[in-house]
Amino acid sequence: MEIDVFTLFPGAFAWFEAQRHVANALSLGHALAYVNYRDHTPLGAGQVDDAPFGGGAGMVLRVDVVEAALRARYRVDPVELRGRRRVLALTPGGRLLDDALVDELAREPALTLLCGRYEGFDQRILDHLTSGEVSIGRYVLAGGELAAMVVCDAVLRKLPGALGDERSALEESFSEALDGAPEYPHYTRPAQYRGWPVPEVLLSGHHARIREWRLEQARARTPPGPLP
Ligand SMILES: C[S@@+](CC[C@H](N)C(=O)[O-])C[C@H]1O[C@@H](n2cnc3c(N)ncnc32)[C@H](O)[C@@H]1O
Repeated sequence: MEIDVFTLFPGAFAWFEAQRHVANALSLGHALAYVNYRDHTPLGAGQVDDAPFGGGAGMVLRVDVVEAALRARYRVDPVELRGRRRVLALTPGGRLLDDALVDELAREPALTLLCGRYEGFDQRILDHLTSGEVSIGRYVLAGGELAAMVVCDAVLRKLPGALGDERSALEESFSEALDGAPEYPHYTRPAQYRGWPVPEVLLSGHHARIREWRLEQARARTPPGPLP
C-alpha cells in the first residue's frame, strides 16, 4: 500500500514512522510519503491560507494551494484523481473512523490523506478535490496530523506482516471474529495478586472451553457508557 500524507508539518510524523508495526510495514515495501503544501504553493512567501470570506476567526487552507500540491504529486487534474484513488480529507465532521472503515481502507492499493490546519479547508477542496472526509472522533484537534497518524496506524497494522503475530489483528475489539464486539478480557502473571483471581477457566488448559468463555465474555461486553 502507498499512503501519501499532505501536511504543513511532515516532521510531526518522525515518531510515528519509528513505531514497530509502521517500520515493519515499510520494510515490507509499503510506502508512507509526505507532501508539504507549502513546497508547492503558487503564492508568494510560502502562503497557504487566507482569511475567510464573510469574516470570522482563523485562516482557511486555500483551494489553489491544495490543488497545486496534488498536481505536483500526481501530475493529473485532482478532480479526475479522486475517481482513481481515495483522496480523503481529515475533518472533525467526516465519516467516523471505525473498524469497518479501517478494513475498507486497508484493502486500497493507495490512499491520500489531506491534513487541515487553522480553521480548516476551503469547502471547494472538500467538494471537488477529495473523495471523502474522515473523522477520528467528534471533537476538534488543532490539525489533521494526529488524525492522519491514527488512520495510518489502524490501517497499517491490518496489513499482513506488520504485527509480530498475525493473529493479533484478526481477533480483537470490533473484528468480525468477535461479531463486532469489544474484545474479551486478558490476564497474565501473577495468577494470584492481592486476592484478585484470574478466571479459573483460563488456567485450565482446556482450549475449547477457553474459546467458548472468551466469546461469551466478548458478547456480554457492551461498549462502555459515560466515565464515572
Ligand atoms: C482546528 S481544526 C478545524 C476545525 C473546523 N473549524 C471545525 O470547526 O470543524 C483544524 C484541522 O484539524 C483536523 N481535525 C481536527 N479535528 C479532527 C478530527 N476529530 N478528525 C479528523 N481531523 C480533525 C482537520 O484536518 C481540520 O481541518
